[in-house]
Order: sequence, then structure tokens, then C-alpha cells
Amino acid sequence: MAEKQQISIDGQLIDFEQGQTVMDAAIAANIYIPHLCHNPKFKPQGSCRLCTVNVNGRTAAACVTPCVANATVENQTKALTAKRTGIIELLFIEGNHFCPSCERSGDCQLQAQAYQHNMIGTDLTYQYPSRQLDASHPDIMLDRDRCILCELCVRASRDVDGKNVFAIAGRGNQANLVVNSDSGLLKDTQLSVDDLAMKVCPVGALLIKKRGFNHPIGERLYDHKPISEVGHHHPYETKQNINKDNPQEDT
Ligand code: SF4
Ligand code: FES
Repeated sequence: MAEKQQISIDGQLIDFEQGQTVMDAAIAANIYIPHLCHNPKFKPQGSCRLCTVNVNGRTAAACVTPCVANATVENQTKALTAKRTGIIELLFIEGNHFCPSCERSGDCQLQAQAYQHNMIGTDLTYQYPSRQLDASHPDIMLDRDRCILCELCVRASRDVDGKNVFAIAGRGNQANLVVNSDSGLLKDTQLSVDDLAMKVCPVGALLIKKRGFNHPIGERLYDHKPISEVGHHHPYETKQNINKDNPQEDT
């Protein structure tokens, strides 16, 4: 029988299986490591760096770092919290995130991470980018101002929905979410409201039209519990019975 292998996270010994990442092992042990671009359903991507931890004294992204026997992982330290808060602030200033008027407020993972990290504001300069809003699809709106380029919709559409609707084009501050159609518009793609891609966006970038605020603000997932307690899945994905007519509405 294979010998049990372990790592420690903040002093707690946990088991792991060969091939698991630090994030996989943490999720299995019910230990929360902050993350935005990770979803256990998809191959990890390692782009947001919010899951930065120390592994044997070196910083590493937990979602793409394989477990090594007897590794010492630090997850909750003041320095890591400061680093993660800086990442969240950067995400806020790089886009246009106006929480009070956003349909996703209370169900948004970026907002929930800001609360989790006690971010009240930032000293960084807001960039107020001007990005194209795509309202061409009859049922769906893409607000690129809120997109954090996590590529969850890219992976869901490509790997689960089998439609390959989304991709990231460009690099650095020119990076942009593009859609796979000759016109470059959502209306000419195969995207539908039932797609998994529509249920995994951590922010309010992909929304179903004409159903705004059906679920009142104040009664949403992160209005009641911090994201560290709610766990590792997206609020819409975890519904037992996703309402086919409105995957973004509680059931
Ligand atoms: Fe991520 Fe949403 Fe942007 Fe897609 S639209 S890359 S899921 S933030
Ligand atoms: Fe690991 Fe985004 S969650 S890099």
C-alpha cells in the first residue's frame, strides 16, 4: 500500500495524493486558500496569484504547485494577506467595478475577496479603462469593464460546453476577452444561457439580460457569509437545482 504522504498548512498536517496541488489538498482538507481564477472543475491556470502561499519558504501559487511530501506551507500570514490585498486592489483599479450598481453585488467573488481582506479603498490610481460592452446577444450581456481575465468562461466554454466561445487576446494592460465569431460579437456565437460558461464568472462581466436584481441585494451568498466560509465554488454553480430559465437566480 502506498505510504500516506502529508504536507502541513499553517501547522496542520494534511494528507495528499500523488499529483495533487497544494490547492487540491487544501480543498480536500477544508482549508481555505483565497483564489479567484481557480475552480476545481477546470485545469488550473495560475493567473490571478491570489492563492500565493509560502512553500518551504518560497512564494508559490497554490493552485499550480504540486504537493511534495513533508512540505511546509504557510497560508495565513500578515505578509501574504498584504500581498493578496495588493492583488485585489490592482484588480479593482484595472477595471471599472462600481459595486453598488452592479447586478452581481453580494454574489461577486472579487467584492467578497475585498471584504475578506478588509479592503476599504486603495491608494492606487484608478485607470478607468474604456472597454467595449457587448449587448448584441438577445439574452446575454458581456461587460468587459468588469472582466478580471480569469479565463474561467474560456475554460468552461472550451472544455465543458464544447463551444470555445471565449479567448483572451493581447497581453499586459492590452489583454482583453474576445469572442469567437467573425463579427467579434456575442450574438454570432453559440453561447446560450444554459452554458456552464454563464455560471462561472466570478464577477459581473457575464450577465443574463432582463432579469436584473431578481434576487435582492442583502440576501445574496456573500451578504451573509465571508467567502472563506462559503468555500470553493461559485454561487451559481453550487445550486442544487439550477433554474434553467435563470441560472443566475437562486432556486
Ligand atoms: Fe473571467 Fe468573467 Fe472575464 Fe470570463 S468574463 S474571463 S469568467 S471575469
Ligand atoms: Fe491560483 Fe488564481 S487561484 S493563481
